[in-house]
Amino acid sequence: MDSKQVAELSSYYLFQNYGRETICFSHGKGEHLWDLEGNRYVDFVAGIAVNCLGHAHPDLVRAVAEQASRLIHVSNLYQIKEQVDLAEALASVVPAPLGRSMFCNSGAEANEAALKLAIKHTGRRRVIACRNSFHGRTSATLSVTGQDKHRKGFEPLLSKNVEFIDFNDLEAIKGAVDGDTAAVILESVQGEGGVIPASSEYFRTARDLCTERGALMIVDEVQTGMGRTGRWFGFQHFGVVPDVISLAKALGGGVPIGAIVSTPEIARTFTPGTHGTTFGGNPLVCAAANAVIHVLKRDALVERAAEMGEKWMDELRSIASGHEEVIDVRGKGLMVGVEMGDLAREFQRYALGKGLLVNVSAGKVVRMVPPLIVSQGSIDALDQAMRDFLG
Ligand SMILES: Cc1ncc(COP(=O)(O)O)c(C=O)c1O
Repeated sequence: MDSKQVAELSSYYLFQNYGRETICFSHGKGEHLWDLEGNRYVDFVAGIAVNCLGHAHPDLVRAVAEQASRLIHVSNLYQIKEQVDLAEALASVVPAPLGRSMFCNSGAEANEAALKLAIKHTGRRRVIACRNSFHGRTSATLSVTGQDKHRKGFEPLLSKNVEFIDFNDLEAIKGAVDGDTAAVILESVQGEGGVIPASSEYFRTARDLCTERGALMIVDEVQTGMGRTGRWFGFQHFGVVPDVISLAKALGGGVPIGAIVSTPEIARTFTPGTHGTTFGGNPLVCAAANAVIHVLKRDALVERAAEMGEKWMDELRSIASGHEEVIDVRGKGLMVGVEMGDLAREFQRYALGKGLLVNVSAGKVVRMVPPLIVSQGSIDALDQAMRDFLG
């Protein structure tokens, strides 16, 4: 079967809720993917910031295979050693007083849990979220997602209790957080919104306001967490510690797992029966996430992301200089965006022709979130493609 045949069957048997390329990958290794036709690609998409160790990483493969052969799933009715190991590993990389974890299966679920936690903890209902944000596709997470294109057809959602404010607008957040606010939910870099980093001042203001007015500061680290931005978590660029963070995507390196991490005091709000999920934190996914954290630490991939990302963005800025069609080059670590209007999609196609997979976010930003093991040679190839494309 070739990629075209898979696409035909896909249009017959599957819901058509994704805009898919007519490419079907058969396997991957490191930063590379191969399609059914045998073409090789460099993966700057990484399953949208998921495959942080690249494809078929030996440590991750071994951990999953060994765990699968021993124990894949048991209920949260019982003690799960791999879950405790993972919570301990997370506690070793988050700043205090964060350090208590609960596991689920996706980013949306993590944010759902964070919102429920904030509502129960504060006894309040009101949530402040940002325009242009993305927090997931469930009813509650869509309710705090500030992009009409995702909400259309599903409104009013839970909007009675949600107020949207402009991202990075200090006056707006000062005016919004009050004594009825349960939580402010923020991304440290808006990913789906077009790779837009928060400012330090914004995060520090949000932190102060939440502390002062008794609201929880939730930082959605689903896309930015686990070293992507050159720090373990994006909020660490800003010198603040949130009350709750949500994680998913890279946490399992491709195996579906989400988490919230909070302080012990806030975590105590959830008592037996108040929240849960059948699969959340089962032995298989926790073994995978343990391997991911082990490799990120052992191979200093977070520090590597910081160094490579800075250098890369400098290079992209120099390539873009003199090209008015490039509006901005921005990001943090190996989360890199090149804003170029309609040309973003054109570049995506052009790069694909050169065997380079990139993605477009917000319809106008070339987003690159490669595995953290990406080679300098591949980054050079992407840069050359950008140079040639811009002419
Ligand atoms: C910042 C952020 N939060 C939440 C989500 C939703 O995660 P999931 O697709 O795993 O539900 C995403 C997905 O792109 C995201 O980027």
